Amino acid sequence: MMEEDIRELELRAILEASNDNIVITDGQGKVLRSSPNCQSIYGMKNEELIGKTVDELERMNVFSPSVTKRVLQEKKEVQVMQHTLTGRSVMATALPVFDENGEMIRVISFSHDLTELRQIKEDYEELRAKMEYYQSEIQELRDKEQHTDGIVLKSKEMSNVWQLIQRVALSDATVVFLGESGVGKNVFARAIHEKSNRSKEAFIEVNCGAIPETLFESEMFGYEKGAFTGANREGKPGLIELANKGTLFLDEVGELPLNLQAKLLKVIQEKKMTRIGGTEPKRIDFRIIASTNRDLAEMVKEGTFREDLFYRLNVVPITIPPLRERKDDLLQLCEYFLGMFNDKYNTDKALHATTIHEILDYSWPGNVRELENLMERLVITTENRIIYPSALPFHKKEIHSFDKQETEEMPEQAENLQEALQNVEIRWLKRAFRQYKTTYEMADYLGISQSSVVRKLQKYGINS
Ligand SMILES: Nc1ncnc2c1ncn2[C@@H]1O[C@H](COP(=O)(O)OP(=O)(O)O)[C@@H](O)[C@H]1O
Ligand SMILES: [Mg+2]
Repeated sequence: MMEEDIRELELRAILEASNDNIVITDGQGKVLRSSPNCQSIYGMKNEELIGKTVDELERMNVFSPSVTKRVLQEKKEVQVMQHTLTGRSVMATALPVFDENGEMIRVISFSHDLTELRQIKEDYEELRAKMEYYQSEIQELRDKEQHTDGIVLKSKEMSNVWQLIQRVALSDATVVFLGESGVGKNVFARAIHEKSNRSKEAFIEVNCGAIPETLFESEMFGYEKGAFTGANREGKPGLIELANKGTLFLDEVGELPLNLQAKLLKVIQEKKMTRIGGTEPKRIDFRIIASTNRDLAEMVKEGTFREDLFYRLNVVPITIPPLRERKDDLLQLCEYFLGMFNDKYNTDKALHATTIHEILDYSWPGNVRELENLMERLVITTENRIIYPSALPFHKKEIHSFDKQETEEMPEQAENLQEALQNVEIRWLKRAFRQYKTTYEMADYLGISQSSVVRKLQKYGINS
């Protein structure tokens, strides 16, 4: 075999085996040969390409721009992104071949199909965008779960309560809130409902202490048309019926008289109720949350609360501690309410440090409700921007024993400024006289000369 034939075989093997598409042109840009796989990229057969110039091919949009053309102009290696007739994206690299006289005799271009890569990149971008969207969605859901808008839960005690609330909300378990009046039992009962699967349904609040006993039954059970003799009232659904699919909140359940406790227990047990004057019992599906500031177990012992109802309600008892036992909340609640009422009344009030101290020391028998009411009152009624402790209803004027003694010694009433100043002067002199042995020491303490001390002591007759 001739050497030339062997080279030809070598070149063919290279052209066939290469993943890149290889095109070889002469020094004028006329295609001499190309890889056999050129059709997939250029949509043209090998034979069709050969003999055409890159200029022609570019005009035919087989590829554009032509990398070979640039090499012919620039006489050096060039890399460009091409689009081809078949809609592919190609990275084309071409380089010139010179003869011994520096004449450009060939241009060889390698084209690498990036369409797949580009597709993968696009898919990747799309996936990433989706991921970001889902991530933000998840974050939003998480935020919602932690959503405690308007509920202050700074203290350890309350964050424990909150965790328990989150856990129990999704179950259908009966919850009873225990705690003093004003600690937030209603707030948390509603929070459970809002975090539960029933949140889209009704939250019916029954204040067991506020409904008169005589009306309780008709309020709770409702009545059918004509249930009451004489009156031609239309029928009306009761609160229990309205709570169907939702939550029935029995507020102040400890106030319920015994006979009504029995009726309530029956509904809870049977999950059925009949309107007054009705005959058809209706199935009712509700979740019960109760609250009380009473000691139900003690009431059971006393016989004022039914034991069976107690056990029905006491499935998940949650005790809300009184405000005085959670000083961390106290501070934050102050800020929260102050901000809220400053907004409401368009003011800019702030608490004096001593006011905060006295607030922290106070026992808050009315708990959060008392604090909320007080903050509103302070914002409305105080004159200065700073709220001083004297504005607090529980503020006690602390009288120093020292001052007390002096107050007793000195009549405080003064006719005019001069007399008032004299009173102050006498008080200071007496204090110095009691504390020091010599007039020099007194002068030092008072910041005046020794001779002035002597003169003033004489003037006011202070000598024993
Ligand atoms: N943790 C809290 N954060 C913000 N406000 C609260 C909080 N706890 C209670 N409150 C407010 O205090 C007041 C009394 O709460 P409430 O739930 O009616 O108490 P309870 O039912 O225990 O008597 C309400 O105005 C309520 O909004
Ligand atoms: Mg309440």
